[in-house]
Amino acid sequence: MTRAVVATAFGGPEVLSVIETPAGSPGPGQVLIAVRAAGTNPVDYKVYSGAMGRDPARLPMRLGSEAAGVVTEAPDGGEGPAGPIRAGDEVVAYRIAGGYAADVVVPASSVVPKPPALSFEQAGGMMLTGATAVHALTVTEVGAGDTVLIHGASGGVGLMAVQLAAAAGARVIGTASESGHAVLRELGGEPVTYGAGLEGRVRALAPGGVDAAIDAVGGDEALDTSLALVPQRERIVTLLASRRAFDSAIKVIGGAPGADPGTEVRDAARLELARLAGEGRLRVVVAAVYPLAEAAAAHRALAGGHTHGKIILVP
Ligand SMILES: NC(=O)c1ccc[n+]([C@@H]2O[C@H](COP(=O)([O-])OP(=O)(O)OC[C@H]3O[C@@H](n4cnc5c(N)ncnc54)[C@H](OP(=O)(O)O)[C@@H]3O)[C@@H](O)[C@H]2O)c1
Repeated sequence: MTRAVVATAFGGPEVLSVIETPAGSPGPGQVLIAVRAAGTNPVDYKVYSGAMGRDPARLPMRLGSEAAGVVTEAPDGGEGPAGPIRAGDEVVAYRIAGGYAADVVVPASSVVPKPPALSFEQAGGMMLTGATAVHALTVTEVGAGDTVLIHGASGGVGLMAVQLAAAAGARVIGTASESGHAVLRELGGEPVTYGAGLEGRVRALAPGGVDAAIDAVGGDEALDTSLALVPQRERIVTLLASRRAFDSAIKVIGGAPGADPGTEVRDAARLELARLAGEGRLRVVVAAVYPLAEAAAAHRALAGGHTHGKIILVP
């Protein structure tokens, strides 16, 4: 048996509870992991909120699409992107289902070695945001000499995008509230406060113009500012699908209908993200760690929308 967080109904964080459930046995191409840390992401509360459908057949719903831990069973000598997986390996698993648990069966293809220099908490929270940031920077072709504007730069995806864009040689301007400015500077970005007058503040920082924009916030302010500042629409991307975004002919990425899921580029990013983080060239910022039993409190904090880094669950 194992312990796992489930949503027992559609609703707010109050529908989360920890249940005892069979740990499961890995089948062909699968491995069992003893989870040491699971990353939380906004999509995790969006799926049980009902905003993405209310099919009762999905309940009770296990949550969590990324985790780090130790392989406890690898029956058929599963092969991951970095090679064979064996019991005892310390690993990062993404994309998986049911990571908020003490044990989880995952596809071997989702498993890469955990960088030894990272804590389990950092490793468990690095892949969804990192892979999304790589995807966003890829579709906007951000590279050396570009100036890129990142909306929501102090969030999970934003902090990854800031570092990866700076490492690629771009000048990075990132929107955040004042409390996030210091970390953005440390990671190679130039912070700008969001809110009324944003476009003017960015123009003052970058009179020569902005080449690309990544929107990890959604809403009119980020979209209007990006449209006003970036001359080429195909160099604007949003992670938050909306009618306006599609109508504006900018890029829309992620799991929403009509968006580009970028499965290949995201999966391919995992080994490179692990390498960069392992070499100390990509910092995984952990904002808070909660026990599984406090998953509802973790989600209340996450859903507040002002986290600077990852919120992690530990069994
Ligand atoms: N399409 C995809 O594939 C994909 C993948 C990952 C995430 N997402 C979505 O992208 C969004 C961000 O994800 P995340 O994991 O980065 O979330 P997160 O870690 O919760 O970060 C939220 C950040 O947004 C900032 N913020 C809030 N309001 C803002 C505003 N008006 N302007 C600028 N920044 C603002 C907050 O900073 P302050 O504290 O400074 O306000 C906070 O740092 C979520 O909606 C998520 O569901 C989509």
